Amino acid sequence: MKKIVISLGGSVLVPSLESNNISRYVSVLSRLAGKCGIFIVVGGGGEARRYIQVARELGAGEATADELGILVTRLNARLLVAGLGDAAYPRVAENYTEAREFAQTGKIVVMGGITPAQTTDAVSAVLAESVGADLLINATSVNGIYSADPKKDAAAVRYERLTPQELLDIITRGRMDAGANNVLDIVAGKVVERSGIPLLVLDGRDPENLYRAIVEGTFVGTIVSEEHVNPLPA
Ligand code: UTP
Repeated sequence: MKKIVISLGGSVLVPSLESNNISRYVSVLSRLAGKCGIFIVVGGGGEARRYIQVARELGAGEATADELGILVTRLNARLLVAGLGDAAYPRVAENYTEAREFAQTGKIVVMGGITPAQTTDAVSAVLAESVGADLLINATSVNGIYSADPKKDAAAVRYERLTPQELLDIITRGRMDAGANNVLDIVAGKVVERSGIPLLVLDGRDPENLYRAIVEGTFVGTIVSEEHVNPLPA
């Protein structure tokens, strides 16, 4: 069975803290569960940003603010686990070894952040490497990686395919600095490059996009892979 790691942005899973946002994902993930081994890394979204901002205003250092962010990602992860019920392992994995252990049950494994100075994109890339995933999917609020911020620049074009080196080049030149272009952090980019695991960046705001990509092989987004081959079903 193929193993797929999905980085699910907090702003995608819980754009607002309402149960119907989460149930849309529960429905799709439950349908995917029997078809492949699923690992979900949940982000912190707006709630994490609010906690981080308040911590900074109180004079906390960046590492402390990161720790608060991690707690929020884990809280979001717990909500998803609660929604998935029996389909998910009942605990949120707090490190990669736990994630591998939990996966032995055949259940969906859910985790949040791990350690300061990175984002859950990096966690998902390392997790993909750690479990030997066939595919890493970044379900974000943009339908792929663009040459510029599509919300600000009408001439921005979406890349259909990139090599990991091209991705790293885009990240390190700072062309992914703000808003919609901030698709991946640099640690994630480096791990994607060294692992050789294909990465698919797609719009996760509609969870059906995940189902269509994984089961039907159809998607709108950007594929990052060395071979420029489509890792999805035909
Ligand atoms: P996210 O991964 O959600 O950040 O982690 P993000 O990319 O800004 O947000 P969304 O969800 O995709 O919109 C939230 C914050 O938690 C801390 C960082 O401060 C991060 O900005 N964090 C998260 C860590 O320090 N380490 C981790 O492993 C994960």
